[in-house]
Amino acid sequence: MADVAVIGVQWGDEGKGKIVDWLSARADIVVRFQGGHNAGHTLVIGGNVYKLSLLPSGVVREGRLGAIGSGVVVDPWALVAEIARLKDQGVSITPDNLAIAENATLILPVHSEIDAMRETSNAGVRIGTTKRGIGPAYEDRAGRRAIRAGDLVHVETLGPKVENLLTHHNALRRGFGAAEVDGGALVQKLKEIAPQIAPFVKPVWRLLDEARKARKQILFEGAQGVLLDVDHGTYPYVTSSNTVAGQAATGSGLGPRAIGYVLGIVKAYTTRVGEGPFPTELDDANGARLGERGHEFGTVTGRKRRCGWFDACLVRQSLKVAGVDGIALTKLDVLDGFEQLKVCVGYEIDGEQFDYLPAGAEMQRAAKPVYETMAGWKGSTLGARSWADLPAEAVKYVRRIEELVETPVALVSTSPERDDVILMRDPFQD
Ligand code: GDP
Ligand code: IMO
Ligand code: MG
Repeated sequence: MADVAVIGVQWGDEGKGKIVDWLSARADIVVRFQGGHNAGHTLVIGGNVYKLSLLPSGVVREGRLGAIGSGVVVDPWALVAEIARLKDQGVSITPDNLAIAENATLILPVHSEIDAMRETSNAGVRIGTTKRGIGPAYEDRAGRRAIRAGDLVHVETLGPKVENLLTHHNALRRGFGAAEVDGGALVQKLKEIAPQIAPFVKPVWRLLDEARKARKQILFEGAQGVLLDVDHGTYPYVTSSNTVAGQAATGSGLGPRAIGYVLGIVKAYTTRVGEGPFPTELDDANGARLGERGHEFGTVTGRKRRCGWFDACLVRQSLKVAGVDGIALTKLDVLDGFEQLKVCVGYEIDGEQFDYLPAGAEMQRAAKPVYETMAGWKGSTLGARSWADLPAEAVKYVRRIEELVETPVALVSTSPERDDVILMRDPFQD
């Protein structure tokens, strides 16, 4: 049985959480390998709704071990709050079912504050971030001044590390006219939260290595999507981590051969939250209809998601740069009842034809979609669990997408509920 990595292929919110939860029935361990609590994953299980941000979506299923790898940025206060929220829903998170990598970077209040200052300032590019401090925390990791999860196990070492970090941050804060942060007070704050985090802190790389040796099944859970990848996405309107499948290895502490199958989650249309180019965006009744039928509001910030037609050209590119073996096509039911559906197959940029989206925000903003039109369907796909339940035009739509993106469809998702899935190829099968 191959270990499976699940990644988003568009701009996030493709339904990764639902598919990871569904697949976790076949897994022993579910590992997050990048991002932080900018992610928002909604699971619907027997009518109960669970909203997860930082915790791996597998933790809701009993008996699964969740791991937060070194590639994740962890806000200790947000994590404690999320664990408490789940406890209220009857899901118990203890060191027996959650491990946090000792080398994972922490998100501190200075990070969310600087994120918000940048986003509300008139100077610079506004990205439309979640203001959760994700970018600034990754900057500090690369700048070699981050505080990491393991430091909460050795709180006596925090003083000089925090001073070093604040040398950088207080200079930035002075530039924004914000009050400086007192090192002693931040150390104190960290010491107060430390006892709630320290019991979870482990060498996750070793735990995963041992699991592999014991032939346990590992499921790698991506957050965000390829178009938000810091290298391959619509830069600079991206998140600050790599979201492609290669990151599953780096961000959890395993080699590249640890991932046997990459499942890309693809929404049957397109959405985006935040700023940045979106060639197939719809500002009309069709866009509004997609938003309403798909309940396209952000889980994290409640922002309305921008909606548009399926962009096969962009998805094909994302699948290739991410190394995806098969896709899970989600939210097909949202397209029920449309008379016609459009699918983008290429772009025209300044009079020139493109079969890919070139890098550079200016080119991307100027890209005009070239559409192919397909017939919609009258019947319902909602809740379908077998291929035979789909109207003929829906089958045609799925098959045409498969052809255009040059990747087979392994699963189709037809409602928010856990078990409403059509399985064509089990990703865990060798
Ligand atoms: P993620 O960030 O990729 O995990 O996706 P989100 O959870 O943020 O957003 C996906 C939303 O669509 C959630 O509210 C899911 O409950 C819902 N969802 C997932 N799959 C389907 C589906 O096949 N059909 C419908 N109608 N909703 C779905
Ligand atoms: P999931 O895992 C959708 C977007 C933000 C913003 C950009 C940068 O639920 O798919 P950041 O706070 O990461 O610095 O913001 O990335 N973004 C997401 N959009 N789904 C997400 O996660 C996202 N995480 C970040 O809206 O445009
Ligand atoms: Mg989401």
